[in-house]
Amino acid sequence: MSQAVNDLIKKVAEEAASEVDSTPEPKLSVEDVKWPIDVKIGRGLEGAIAATSKIGYVNGQKGWLVYAGYNCFDLAQHSTYEETAFLLLYGKLPTSKELSDFSAKLVRHRSIPESVVEVMRHLPVKEAHPMGILRTAVSAAGNFASDSDNVSVDAEREVSIQLIAEFPTIVAAIGRIRQGKDPIAPNPDLGHAANFLYMLTGEVPDEDAARVMDVALILHADHGMNASTFTTMVVNATLSDMYSSVVAGIGSLKGSLHGGANERVLYQLEEIGKPENTLAWFKEAQKNKVKVMGMGHRVYKAYDPRGRIFGPLAGLVSDRDPDVARLYEVAKEVDRVVSGELKDKKIYPNVDFYSGLVYKALGIETPLFTPIFAVSRVAGWTARALEHLADNRLFRPRAIYTGETELDYRPISER
Ligand SMILES: CC(C)(COP(=O)(O)OP(=O)(O)OC[C@H]1O[C@@H](n2cnc3c(N)ncnc32)[C@H](O)[C@@H]1OP(=O)(O)O)[C@@H](O)C(=O)NCCC(=O)NCCS
Repeated sequence: MSQAVNDLIKKVAEEAASEVDSTPEPKLSVEDVKWPIDVKIGRGLEGAIAATSKIGYVNGQKGWLVYAGYNCFDLAQHSTYEETAFLLLYGKLPTSKELSDFSAKLVRHRSIPESVVEVMRHLPVKEAHPMGILRTAVSAAGNFASDSDNVSVDAEREVSIQLIAEFPTIVAAIGRIRQGKDPIAPNPDLGHAANFLYMLTGEVPDEDAARVMDVALILHADHGMNASTFTTMVVNATLSDMYSSVVAGIGSLKGSLHGGANERVLYQLEEIGKPENTLAWFKEAQKNKVKVMGMGHRVYKAYDPRGRIFGPLAGLVSDRDPDVARLYEVAKEVDRVVSGELKDKKIYPNVDFYSGLVYKALGIETPLFTPIFAVSRVAGWTARALEHLADNRLFRPRAIYTGETELDYRPISER
């Protein structure tokens, strides 16, 4: 593991510890929750409680992100994506034997059927958004998966591991085909993150790059009942198969209100161009009611802990690409100006603000940023779908009907 990256995260974690309220939360058990629960529900199910979970916890007031009991600073510093995925899927950290078996299984499942690559080649890969290609490719791969209509938790967990293994291969293939190049076969000697970068760029990444990618994947693996996780759970709770559920999750993540902000941050930084343009650009944005991409969050009203880590990581890798070094200077100024101007509204950089710069420094083109989010989040999607499946309940909210009920049917000729 890269010492430079881990030292940097240790420093960020120490700074965060001095600022973040770490008072332990009262612990609830499933038995403490008496359904139905009285809650105030807004449109879009805002405030609704749809499930109990031991997988992950976000406390937006305090700026906490916890996976199965472990805070994201510890995981970013000490864990790997493989270990984090195991934690989410099994609810505990693995022993070394469990981790080596799990990692070996991921390696075994990395290859995708040649016909899935053929399907991708027949799509307009260079023009269409990679999230659409990913959706189709994962859907195609689902037809090759064994047991895809066996809905036991154990069988579905095996399918989930296969999906986690296949995602980097599919996204890397999309990246290669977009550039008119052939996909690269997975390298079984490399870890999950390093192999992903290798399949994408054709070069075995150095230790720092591999570790930065690993940390990026750890930090995106789960995030409460966000839209794509909930979508995956809703489909899976119908007792559909895990591939179908995850395909729906991809569709949800594709939307610009969910994934996608990290791409737009880069376009925004390019538009601002120079640090000294920031204040005037921001005043104009405010006048036109344009939101600053990568700033603010629906849940975090304190600093997004992932944003805290991605900022310094972007600084660490920025000298790999002069363009990133230039944009990083702009980003720091946007962060300073906007966080200062909107201090009272508690608007800080979110996970998307600096992550795009990190990916760009690793040689990844901007349209692939949201697919990379999916490469990581597939662990959270499947883990939560499995947790719900273990005590399954179909999701079925209602709408308040505001239409007519007693109209007279008139033949088309009379309308
Ligand atoms: C994520 C987001 C939708 C959260 O929105 P929200 O919780 O509903 O916050 P609100 O829209 O209620 O914002 C509260 C106030 O802060 C302002 N604000 C929030 N995010 C802002 C931003 N990025 N830029 C400028 N002002 C912002 C709002 O205009 C609002 O001001 P008002 O009270 O004067 O109307 C919003 O912050 C946003 O659009 N951010 C940019 C897109 C982005 O980065 N998305 C990725 C999220 S991980």
